[in-house]
Amino acid sequence: MSDAILAIDQGTTSSRALLFSRQGEMLASAQQEFTQHFPADGWVEHDPLEIWQVTTDVCNQALAQLPARQNVVGIGITNQRETTLVWDKSSGEPIYPAIVWQDRRTADTCRRLRNEGQEPLLRERTGLLLDPYFSATKLAWILDKVEGARERAGRGELAFGTIDSWLIWKFTNGQRHVTDATNASRTALFNIHTQQWDEELLKLFNIPASLLPEVLDCAADFGTATEGLEGRQIPITGVAGDQHAAMIGQACFAPGMIKSTYGTGCFALMHTGDTPKASSNRLLTTLAYRINGEPHYALEGSIFIAGAAVQWLRDKLGIIREAAETEALAASLDGNHGVYLVPAFTGLGAPHWEPDARATICGLSRDSGRAEIARAALEAVCYQTRDLLEAMEKDAGHSTRALRVDGGMIANNWLLQTLADITDTTVERPRMIETTALGAAQLAALQLGLFASLQDIAKHWTQERQASPHIDATTRATMIKGWQAAVRKTLAE
Ligand code: G3P
Repeated sequence: MSDAILAIDQGTTSSRALLFSRQGEMLASAQQEFTQHFPADGWVEHDPLEIWQVTTDVCNQALAQLPARQNVVGIGITNQRETTLVWDKSSGEPIYPAIVWQDRRTADTCRRLRNEGQEPLLRERTGLLLDPYFSATKLAWILDKVEGARERAGRGELAFGTIDSWLIWKFTNGQRHVTDATNASRTALFNIHTQQWDEELLKLFNIPASLLPEVLDCAADFGTATEGLEGRQIPITGVAGDQHAAMIGQACFAPGMIKSTYGTGCFALMHTGDTPKASSNRLLTTLAYRINGEPHYALEGSIFIAGAAVQWLRDKLGIIREAAETEALAASLDGNHGVYLVPAFTGLGAPHWEPDARATICGLSRDSGRAEIARAALEAVCYQTRDLLEAMEKDAGHSTRALRVDGGMIANNWLLQTLADITDTTVERPRMIETTALGAAQLAALQLGLFASLQDIAKHWTQERQASPHIDATTRATMIKGWQAAVRKTLAE
């Protein structure tokens, strides 16, 4: 009998379950999209019960494919971060839909707090900025807008959690109300220096402490899943927010190493060691991971729309049937023909942090068609990654040596090469591009003693393909200039 780990990757648009062997080979997988709700401009919600249903469905589908000689010994959970939900502790019913990380409804609250001069305190304690992206203002919104919520919270009847907490609560039948340090670090309520919920920030956002989950390491005992898995009982031993799990899966364990994950959005994290490093270039200071009580830190650049732009081409414009078509469309052109797409559908993240910005397409001519627009959507991901790397280089004081990339979108070879060209960096794609799920499985395996250390995990990282920059400096500079002009137009509107 060999040991397998079930990795659950609860993402923004789909839930996935993957089974990994100890060597990191994928043994089985299942994936299902779920409903996105857009009740108003800039609002994005999910149904927590649908997420639970879809997540357990994919787990059971993957488990059903597992060869008989494999025994599932642990679960690792990784998830879309910041997405905020509140549920009733006795009924287990959510009191409001989950407010998704992309949701901008609290932009005014953030602006007011910034005008009151609160951003330096938040930045110093949490490494974050005053932006609706993070959980705190979303949580306060739910407490203020749902009738009776503050009274119920005052009586200790409610629980707050990010998606990891919610799933663990459901899996353990309400036995455990916990989260891990990386997910906690994205709430804007967690002090990344003391590794505790911050009382002053709780006061600032008017959040009762009784709502909060207990914060554990990324490899820890999160309870045993007794529900949702058709009678199976499996311990949950690894949890990390998706971008932090990808740091593990990409074996970014040494200061200076950078990974960039291309999912719904794109998130680049640079390991900065065991003390937090403040950014002077509008990046976030965040946890890379916390293991054995020792926090490791990262600088993060967050781009809200990457794969979601391709989804928009498919679902709203209808110019492609499936995402993979964009590769041939982009490659069919000899250049971008001056067309740029700034995908600020839910505002702009790093380094601009402009929640009210909205997307722009510019440079269209009578000749422009679906190929130009598809290419512009892919190029936008590369320009934005370049903007992040530039900010990281300024903060770190040295240039980027290599960038490890992962996520479904980066299977596109044209995108991989263009990323190398525009960022002027060597880009490395590992054999396993489901790196987020792999990282969650590895955290679970670490806790179970299947790995001795992070170094042991690093031995399993192998490169599948590498792209080096090919275009000349003048071409690159012209393309970047065009992008910067498009961003200026977007910000000016
Ligand atoms: O911070 C949001 C991030 O965790 C979402 O990740 O993979 O759904 O784009 P993803």
